[in-house]
Amino acid sequence: MVSSLLIALAASSYAAAQSFVSDPLIDKVVPYTAIPYQVDHHTADRGPQAGYNICNSTTEGQTSMCQTAYVNHLDDFCLFAPPKEATIGETEGIEVAWCTKPGRGTRLIPEGTFTGLQLVKSPGYIQIVGFIDQTKLNIPDGDYGGELDSGGQDGRGNPIGGLVYSNDLPGSTGNDSFVQSRHWTFFIGGDQFCLKVCDSTNPEAGHLCEHIYDRIGCAYNAPNTAQNNVFEACEGEDMMPVGTYVENGQTLTWTQPPEGVAPTPPYTPTPASSSNCVTYSSNALFSQLATVGISGSQAAPTSGATGAAGASGSGARLGVSGTSSADGAASTNGANAMGVSLIAGISGVVFSALFFA
Ligand SMILES: *[C@@H]1O[C@H](CO)[C@@H](O)[C@H](O)[C@H]1NC(C)=O
Ligand SMILES: *[C@@H]1O[C@H](CO)[C@@H](O)[C@H](O)[C@H]1NC(C)=O
Repeated sequence: MVSSLLIALAASSYAAAQSFVSDPLIDKVVPYTAIPYQVDHHTADRGPQAGYNICNSTTEGQTSMCQTAYVNHLDDFCLFAPPKEATIGETEGIEVAWCTKPGRGTRLIPEGTFTGLQLVKSPGYIQIVGFIDQTKLNIPDGDYGGELDSGGQDGRGNPIGGLVYSNDLPGSTGNDSFVQSRHWTFFIGGDQFCLKVCDSTNPEAGHLCEHIYDRIGCAYNAPNTAQNNVFEACEGEDMMPVGTYVENGQTLTWTQPPEGVAPTPPYTPTPASSSNCVTYSSNALFSQLATVGISGSQAAPTSGATGAAGASGSGARLGVSGTSSADGAASTNGANAMGVSLIAGISGVVFSALFFA
């Protein structure tokens, strides 16, 4: 009784606080050659866009407020992370782009941030999953983070006005040809991240990069076989749309319950099949990051580089399945040692629900 009342109150205050804009970010077609200074022009509720979308040599560096990101290749992508040390929940609307390559007006990801990465390119999207030292990205040790995406509670995106481009989605004609992804989703926290940028011309883009499963983390939103201490790029099939699963030959859809009700998906996600994986050494991938220092505003890292994700050892998989009892069932995918990282992932999204409510 008491708890359902609290839920009702929370839901109504949430609805009253932020109205959904009439021009959501997901509908804004912004050619790479016509990026405006800021793509978001709203000021009400959450305030104006914190950074900008035109990024160049004058904005480049560790104080950049660039909010235009790229997801190209294993050696060439960006994450969104806080501009100064704070949790993802506190800064979801104002995250900025941190990238692996200089020359695009953004911050650079400090050397040693990644301890394992897996990129899977499928017909419908590019997915990258990684193990990170999140303290190098202004995210406090122990923050289990949450979801950022091109939707958001008011349609303005998280970060507000965040744009994402790729030179490896359909429509690109080469490395200098960038196409916009309007459907993307990104979880970061618990020393892990997963991102998926969907081909906006694909009719399934909205389902493959679904925005409504923000409390069930990478395991469900980006099922994968990433391993700590391995850097690899693969090809793969498209996953089943987030939330869907097959039971007794029928495709069923599970929907995340409202805030305040624990999300308990009735299925264990299975990574889509992947092939042609090529492994790399991180030194070869990220030689240009060698000189990037830790940004001035953040505290020194307090613990080992790998944290929760690394604690389960080099065989750890990132959030492949929902419960440890599912290990056996998932082991055909090599997913047999993901207990610790999974707990981080699930508690992460539960923690984040408090901030995101
Ligand atoms: C460089 O980026 C800044 C920030 O968006 C912008 O104000 C400035 O006009 C840009 N400069 C050029 C030459 O485009
Ligand atoms: C495009 O970039 C990728 C990696 O960033 C690189 O491997 C590839 O050689 C580049 N292609 C061309 C044509 O330069």
